[in-house]
Amino acid sequence: MTTLDDLKARAYELRERLEAELGSSTDPAALQALRDRFLGRKAGEVTALFKDLGKLAAEARKEAGESLNALKVLAETKIGEAEALIERRQRDSRLSSETIDVSLPGRDRALGSKHPLTLVREEVEDVFTGLGFDIFDGPEIDDDFHCFEALNMPADHPARDMQDTFYLEGAPPRLLRTHTSTGQIRSMLANENPPGVRVLCPGRVFRRDDDITHSPMFHQFEGLVVDYGISLGDLMGTLETFIHRLFGKEYPVRFRPSYFPYTEPSVEVDMGCSTCRGRRTGCRVCKQTGWVEILGSGMVHPAVFESVNTRLGKVVYDPAKVSGFAFGTGIERVAMIKYGVSDIRLFYESDVRFLEQFS
Ligand code: DAH
Repeated sequence: MTTLDDLKARAYELRERLEAELGSSTDPAALQALRDRFLGRKAGEVTALFKDLGKLAAEARKEAGESLNALKVLAETKIGEAEALIERRQRDSRLSSETIDVSLPGRDRALGSKHPLTLVREEVEDVFTGLGFDIFDGPEIDDDFHCFEALNMPADHPARDMQDTFYLEGAPPRLLRTHTSTGQIRSMLANENPPGVRVLCPGRVFRRDDDITHSPMFHQFEGLVVDYGISLGDLMGTLETFIHRLFGKEYPVRFRPSYFPYTEPSVEVDMGCSTCRGRRTGCRVCKQTGWVEILGSGMVHPAVFESVNTRLGKVVYDPAKVSGFAFGTGIERVAMIKYGVSDIRLFYESDVRFLEQFS
């Protein structure tokens, strides 16, 4: 028969042992084992004492139960404290071994950069706004009138062959503009202060073209200056200034007669080859001529003024009184010359190895 004293003695002994073993359990696994041994629900020694409560005389049970409960709470508290202590020690030693070396360089986050075509467009815009031009934006989807008809290219004009484009279904018929020359017509029509115009029209254009130097989508900029007394001298001075500001004063500039339906006379503008720097020997960029073509230009054809007047319903740009010059070229073309890029497709492939060379 178990007596109250018996049970108390065993509880006392258990408590002594717990205190002793707690001192030697210095890692989480040992503490877990200790907890199982004392408080485990099946084989725990404290649990076993509780099971013996039933063997006591009824009067003794209350007192025995109270002291067993006290033992259980004590064991749980002590083991919990020991676990917390071990955890804190482990954290402290990790913190002191993992010190931060503030002298280490930080991790670089790769920053993007502007696309070479954006760089060139912005530079061109800077040069011309510096010369007093406004930026004029026209639609990429336009129509036959603005793209061809008003530019002195009626439906049967052979110059249209070089600018086959993409046509959209529907009425009125629309097309993807083949050049930014549409900006000439649109800026004159929209002009609030006629007849003076000084605009630069950069933008995306589309053609049925695809090879190493031509893409079905590319970019151009167009310029138009109209006023009283604008001369070929203004054209030459403006375009030479542009080339010298963009590429450097060391490049010679020359003007050659040419043909465009919307200008008369028409002029092509060449600059000294930046690849061979005029040495010519073996240069594939200038085909050993020492010159590369950079712009198309000319004096605005009277027929262009007439088309705009007709559309406006009054003579706003009287070819007998006002004159003007226009110019245009591909932004890709300028970028290829400026950066020595030989394949136009590199601009559209989004290859970081190519693009990061311009950052
Ligand atoms: N529109 C021409 C093209 O796409 C470029 C051009 C030539 C524009 C002569 C002009 C110009 O304004 O006068 O090839």
